[in-house]
Amino acid sequence: MGFFTKDIKTMNDLFMHGLQDLYYAENQIAKSLPDMIEKATNPQLRAGFEKHLSETEGQIQRLQQVFEMLDAEPKGERCQAIDGILKEGRDLMGEIDDEDVMNVGLIAAAQAVEHYEITRYGALMAWASELGRGDCIPLLKANLDEEKATDKKLTALAERRVNPQGEKKSEGEKKPAKRASSTARRKPKTQARPAAKSKRSNGAKKSRRRA
Ligand SMILES: [Fe+2]
Ligand SMILES: [Fe+2]
Repeated sequence: MGFFTKDIKTMNDLFMHGLQDLYYAENQIAKSLPDMIEKATNPQLRAGFEKHLSETEGQIQRLQQVFEMLDAEPKGERCQAIDGILKEGRDLMGEIDDEDVMNVGLIAAAQAVEHYEITRYGALMAWASELGRGDCIPLLKANLDEEKATDKKLTALAERRVNPQGEKKSEGEKKPAKRASSTARRKPKTQARPAAKSKRSNGAKKSRRRA
């Protein structure tokens, strides 16, 4: 793109630039995911990355269809934003040895990618609508929906802190802060109560008040 030559003159140019930018981004993401799959030791995270790699390949094909609908050759425009996000992820992976920490770092790196994609697909859909190219929207939306679903799954994994709780607990000498946080999320505060009451703490409170 030429910020200085001002190649983008119209909304149509802007839309085409955005499409080329995303086409480049999706191709770079497809190249990066195998490395992330290799680094992920958590089975759910690994499976999620594998699934998203195949989704990303489908997304590239959908973008190719959008190019075709616009009578344009599928072409990528180098996108410094995704290059930076992916490089940061690679650098981070290079700094981490511990498997559990790696899984957590991978989730954060992947979410940065998904959030980037979500903003770009949102803009492209709005511009397609503005340009009277609503015919392109379903394809863009299909990609956007996959990015959003992936982001949601990553959030769920992050909330579970990836590493299964008890399995390594007995091995000792593991990070107490992380375990405390994890435990706090999994177990309700009522855990010290007898099982019958802790099962439905609200109900239990009410019935106690009534009694
Ligand atoms: Fe994507
Ligand atoms: Fe994605």
